Amino acid sequence: MSVALVGAGPGDPELITRRGLRLIQACQVLIYDRLVGPELVAEAPAGALLIDRDGSEQEEVNDLLVEYGLLGLRVVRLKGGDPFVFGRGGEEVLRLRAHGIEVEVVPGVSSFAAVPGAAGIPVTHRGLAQEATIVMGHGADLDFPRLAANPGTLVLFMGARSLPRIAEGLLAAGKHPDTPAAVVANGTRLDQEVVTSTLGEIAEAAAAVPTPALIVIGEVVSLAEAIGPAQPQYGSVVRQPA
Ligand SMILES: C[S@@+](CC[C@H](N)C(=O)[O-])C[C@H]1O[C@@H](n2cnc3c(N)ncnc32)[C@H](O)[C@@H]1O
Repeated sequence: MSVALVGAGPGDPELITRRGLRLIQACQVLIYDRLVGPELVAEAPAGALLIDRDGSEQEEVNDLLVEYGLLGLRVVRLKGGDPFVFGRGGEEVLRLRAHGIEVEVVPGVSSFAAVPGAAGIPVTHRGLAQEATIVMGHGADLDFPRLAANPGTLVLFMGARSLPRIAEGLLAAGKHPDTPAAVVANGTRLDQEVVTSTLGEIAEAAAAVPTPALIVIGEVVSLAEAIGPAQPQYGSVVRQPA
């Protein structure tokens, strides 16, 4: 009985680990997230049971994992980015272990640094940012005074729709309106879109970007143009306010 929690990487199907890909190619059941590229789902053997978890509650996913895990099948739970970065991977492992099911966790390239990096933004850079903080931007009660006082890079997940509230909160807490800010959507994919602006204007500039999107706030964003996209094939739409 074993279930493998596999990180699929941030979007580009080439950014999965070799071990993760090998497990997919040998699985009997593949339970995958919406953010996982179809190219990776297509790597499962013909005849494998493919389950798209989109629309299912986390509790239902946990139940499915236990059900197929107890059947003794080779189950792969494929998750966007890294399973343990805003991925609820810990909850799934705990549930499986509670049922005596063996679990293997295969890390993935998290969007945390890969998505800003794909847009030419290093999350740390000597002289500009010596630390980076990852923040859940959606729904949570953000501690704006603490975040505004942070001298490093802020990387906000799941915050695109809340961007006006986030920018307003940081500005009200004293973050300078000229602080460079970016939104990177569909990072590491052919349809990648990047908006660079300032904290004061980013909400308006990025109002129309698609999701998934990551928000990056800090001086490192000013390097985006000089560094450029990490791969020439990544989408090159870069919008800047007039
Ligand atoms: C549920 S979290 C999963 C994060 C994932 N476990 C990781 O390590 O990257 C989903 C959020 O990650 C961010 N994200 C994931 N992939 C992305 C991509 N290719 N481009 C932009 N943002 C992405 C978005 O903020 C999205 O709403």
